Amino acid sequence: MTRTYNFCAGPAAVPTPVLERAREELLDYQDRGLSVMEMSHRSPEFVAIAETAEADFRALLQVPDNYKVLFLQGGASAQFAMLPYNLLGNGGTPNYLYTGIWGKKAIAEARHLGGAHIAASSEANGLTAVPRPQDIQLSADAAYLHYTDNETIGGLAFDYIPESVPGRSEEVPLCCDMSSSILSAPLDVSRFGVIYAGAQKNIGPAGLTMVIVRDDLLDRAKPETPTMFNYRVMAENGSMYNTPPTYGWYLAGLVFDWLKNDIGGLDAMTAINDRKASRLYGAIDASGFYSNPIAPLNRSRMNVPFVLADESLNAMFLEEAEAAGLLNLKGHRSVGGMRASLYNAVSEAAVEALVDFMSDFEKRHG
Ligand SMILES: Cc1ncc(COP(=O)(O)O)c(C=O)c1O
Repeated sequence: MTRTYNFCAGPAAVPTPVLERAREELLDYQDRGLSVMEMSHRSPEFVAIAETAEADFRALLQVPDNYKVLFLQGGASAQFAMLPYNLLGNGGTPNYLYTGIWGKKAIAEARHLGGAHIAASSEANGLTAVPRPQDIQLSADAAYLHYTDNETIGGLAFDYIPESVPGRSEEVPLCCDMSSSILSAPLDVSRFGVIYAGAQKNIGPAGLTMVIVRDDLLDRAKPETPTMFNYRVMAENGSMYNTPPTYGWYLAGLVFDWLKNDIGGLDAMTAINDRKASRLYGAIDASGFYSNPIAPLNRSRMNVPFVLADESLNAMFLEEAEAAGLLNLKGHRSVGGMRASLYNAVSEAAVEALVDFMSDFEKRHG
């Protein structure tokens, strides 16, 4: 069997050793005679899997004790609504930074619940650079400040944490969609109120959503918050108010174990991610044939969009790439062009193969 190189933006590549271990354990988990998929979420076996996964996730990100880690369903899109439900109980206006398509969707959900203030936007620069701290204008009654750390479609990433912005006090928690950047580098969680991420990019399978929420924010839910959307209910029930996504939770645990023990933690991971991104951006910049529109400071290390000088060659590029075992390089349908996602599970060898292919394609068609 040959594994291809998968540059999909999500559901994305999963580390091969993780899939191998899942395969080994699929039918018979640790001599229990059944699959993790078939276990009760209340069984001692599954509770041990769940607790180990949480402990490893906390260790990787050094999550402080005054934060809860939740393993939920509904994707990051459910968090777009869950966040305002949970943080607007004391009133105030949610504030948002708009830097791309995902941020826009988050803003739309806040508007369903009454409104949102756009504290800064990248619209004027065509979503190619994030706002600078001095350009962020919070509303006087800001309930929280939300931003998208890495805009997966545009390939636009924050180069800083928008914490010290004019007029922001500790009363205005920073909330962040880290769907496509979580665990790609070490992070100081203590600077945030809420962090959330769909798992299907840097963690594992679709169907699992990670939430990190500071304890003092568990008392701010709007009274009409649906039970399944309530962070406090989920926290008090260890994310098992109802049946959790057990197999996704287990696979995420295998990925955390791989990150800790095979890779050596997030310092090692970020060094690898830096090398991969530099290699690809370097090749794009050195060519006269490929280009990336994002301001260098805000180029995403996880999602690298690029276009060909001659767009009529797009279909041929994708066809030849696929024949060479390089999959899912087509850009998002809303922006076109190409996009290579370089999440943790995408190896340096994969990036090397992509760069070689791009160079060869340019020689033949450029
Ligand atoms: C940054 C970001 N936020 C939110 C989402 C939506 O995630 P989900 O499909 O898990 O709802 C995505 C999906 O690609 C994303 O990249």
